Amino acid sequence: MTDHIQFSPEKDALVLLDQRLLPTRVEWFDCTGTEDVCFALKVMVVRGAPAIGVTAAYGCYLAARETAREGAADWAKALTARLDRIENARPTAVNLAWAVREMRRVWAERKTSSLDELAAVWLARAKEIHLADIEMCKAMGRFGADLIDEGDTVMTHCNAGALATAGYGTALGVIRGAVDAGKKIQVIANETRPFLQGARLTAWELHRDGIPVRVACDNACALLMKRGLVQKVVVGADRIAANGDAVNKIGTFGVALLARNFGIPFYVAAPVYTIDPATATGDDVPIEDRDPREVTHVGQTQVVPDGVSVYNLAFDPTPAALIAGIVTERGVLRPPYGEAIRKLFA
Ligand code: MRU
Repeated sequence: MTDHIQFSPEKDALVLLDQRLLPTRVEWFDCTGTEDVCFALKVMVVRGAPAIGVTAAYGCYLAARETAREGAADWAKALTARLDRIENARPTAVNLAWAVREMRRVWAERKTSSLDELAAVWLARAKEIHLADIEMCKAMGRFGADLIDEGDTVMTHCNAGALATAGYGTALGVIRGAVDAGKKIQVIANETRPFLQGARLTAWELHRDGIPVRVACDNACALLMKRGLVQKVVVGADRIAANGDAVNKIGTFGVALLARNFGIPFYVAAPVYTIDPATATGDDVPIEDRDPREVTHVGQTQVVPDGVSVYNLAFDPTPAALIAGIVTERGVLRPPYGEAIRKLFA
């Protein structure tokens, strides 16, 4: 599946599969300007670290088009403010900030005084980032396939699949890589409260591809592992710190601790640009604190009494010590990660 993020030249718009509505409704959401893009990112019409990076790249193009429509003489200031808004739409995944910074770099390098020319260059760059992401996922799939054995049941948390990337996926890329290599495997998708990325999205895309998948409540993890029903865990990441700590969807840390307890290898799959050498450890990564309503309600049904506060921290850092390997498009990194990451960026 490689088409949930589309650029439509006819509409001059970014067209996104609305992930809030899956698995029961397949509907599309058009973004024609900065407001739409920021809304889509914040409410998670589109989500997943690489997917929000690709969206942000197209978002910069749409911001340029919108600024051009305004026709202000001092367009650079208005455009910069729009880029700032896109860059800050969500704080944890480094891919979003990376994409906007990349567009700023292209702008600085181009030194153009034509907004139309800048928009054209940005659109071309956004398309490159989009295509490159799919290739990176496929490369991760090829490297990661070797880590999975015939007959394995692989547990994953959240959705690090085609829907979270430009296509193919990171953690699900590893799973698809193993399947493409002819291995018969199955997947346990942890449901991933509160947004249910595992139940709604991972199960949807694997089932569509004919890869056997079973959804488990997040709190079933310990028992499933104890009963020997899980041979490997593979998850994605929103940001990997310089020491190898991996920040991913809330609950990942608990899964990693349980995997260590039961001697199950725990792998992280992420493209190299998810590694942020400027962030020393996982504890230095800003953790998004989302709308309490995601926890107090399931769909339209209220499940927490009125007046009761909740936590809705969206991510947690898994210490590098719990990670058996980090699968990237350039190979599998092994501990000590600080050294491996320094070499990668040298
Ligand atoms: O809040 P989300 O759905 O954007 O969180 C997504 C995750 O945590 C994914 O596991 C991560 O972005 C890796 S996606 C390839």
